[in-house]
Amino acid sequence: MEKFVIRGGSELHGEIEISGAKNAAVAILPATILAKDIFTIENVPDIKDINSMLQILEEMGAAVRYLDRSTIQIDTRNIFSQTVPYELTKNLRASYYLLGALLGMYNHARVAMPGGCNFGGVRPIDLHLKGFASLGAVISTDGGIVEAKASKLLGGSIYFDKVSVGATINVLLAAVKARGITIIENAAREPHIVDLANFLNLMGANIKGAGTDVIKVEGVSELHGCDYSIIPDQIEAGTYMVAAAATGGDVVIKNIIPKHLEPITVKLRECGATVEEFDDSVRVFSHGRLQGCNIKTKPHPGFPTDMQPQFTALLALCEGMSIVTDSVWDNRFRYVDQLTRMGAQIQIEGKAAIVQGVASLKGAPVKADDLRAGAAMIIAGLCAKGVTEIEDIVHIDRGYEDVVKKLTAVGADIARVDFPENMNIRTKRA
Ligand code: UD1
Repeated sequence: MEKFVIRGGSELHGEIEISGAKNAAVAILPATILAKDIFTIENVPDIKDINSMLQILEEMGAAVRYLDRSTIQIDTRNIFSQTVPYELTKNLRASYYLLGALLGMYNHARVAMPGGCNFGGVRPIDLHLKGFASLGAVISTDGGIVEAKASKLLGGSIYFDKVSVGATINVLLAAVKARGITIIENAAREPHIVDLANFLNLMGANIKGAGTDVIKVEGVSELHGCDYSIIPDQIEAGTYMVAAAATGGDVVIKNIIPKHLEPITVKLRECGATVEEFDDSVRVFSHGRLQGCNIKTKPHPGFPTDMQPQFTALLALCEGMSIVTDSVWDNRFRYVDQLTRMGAQIQIEGKAAIVQGVASLKGAPVKADDLRAGAAMIIAGLCAKGVTEIEDIVHIDRGYEDVVKKLTAVGADIARVDFPENMNIRTKRA
């Protein structure tokens, strides 16, 4: 069993290069189904979620070729399948984007309900399905498989009563080739939605308003291949910003769009860290103990829920009391038990975590409950006295490229260690 073993206490100093955005890539890759053509896509992160998505596309008949580690060529001319079985979707939440892409291209999709991060308890897709229905699709679910079909998709008006990234993306995918005009109101505004819309427009789609809460799509009959470069990963960048501040280090985070990081920058400054912004990088440094602050997650441009666990790890060590409220997901504080094992003082009250800052954390065996919870454990481990062993790191590998290499390069003492099962038991008993 692989674990991360971290010896805490090193300040991080140096530079970290950010990879392409996971949440943009998992939408852009299935979007290639919407044309029978060849695409070259750059800045694709080398992470488990992307490998899972590429494997699904290959099983459906796409040819995938790596031009270098982060550039892939996808040929979708021989896609033959509109069905995606559970064996392929179970490890990837975003596999539900295949529903929108297949429906948009073939007027038919059969996709097994996905697995992936489970922090929100049941993660519904009712809004996605209502969106498809507004375009004229008939939806049925049977044995965990969702089927959507239409004789012809027609543009429609869709109002989401809750802001949903996934539903906005899925409806965009289904609507780009529908006949007529689709209006999506109360759309999500995340940077990866803009990135997907830019990609689709380069394929020949006609999408206006992405990045605002009203998106207008005028259907086109044909789309074609294109060359595209995916935006940098806002959450990966935010994670390293928080790690730099939490360890009292000084790190330049490169290949980013500072505007996408504003909610994180603002909160780090409120805690007392210094954040300097440049064209495509930020420098984060801090000295001494930081001050606590309150965080409330919201859809973009609010504070991202995907940064909530990492920021809570930082607040666990700040002076005074902080209140962290997650208004996006109902149940995203499971990881707090792990921080408590390291000495953090955090109480959960409904949708909020009340964090009473402590002067230090102590290394302990912990686990990564999900992707961002795992990132929070890394930050806590980097700051803690002694050794932290993180298990279930498969979650972290889903979304962070070269995390050990990137952190080691800035002075962290972190290693990926393969523990034989029996040794693992001894370690636990010790
Ligand atoms: C995406 C991100 C995820 C992030 C989340 C919120 C990807 C691949 N994943 O997830 O990392 O945490 O946005 O920023 O981009 N909801 C419904 N019905 C639906 C859909 C969603 O009630 O049909 C609710 C959810 O339960 C949740 C809220 O809407 O409370 C937001 O979910 P949504 O924005 O859809 O998240 P995802 O797209 O799944």
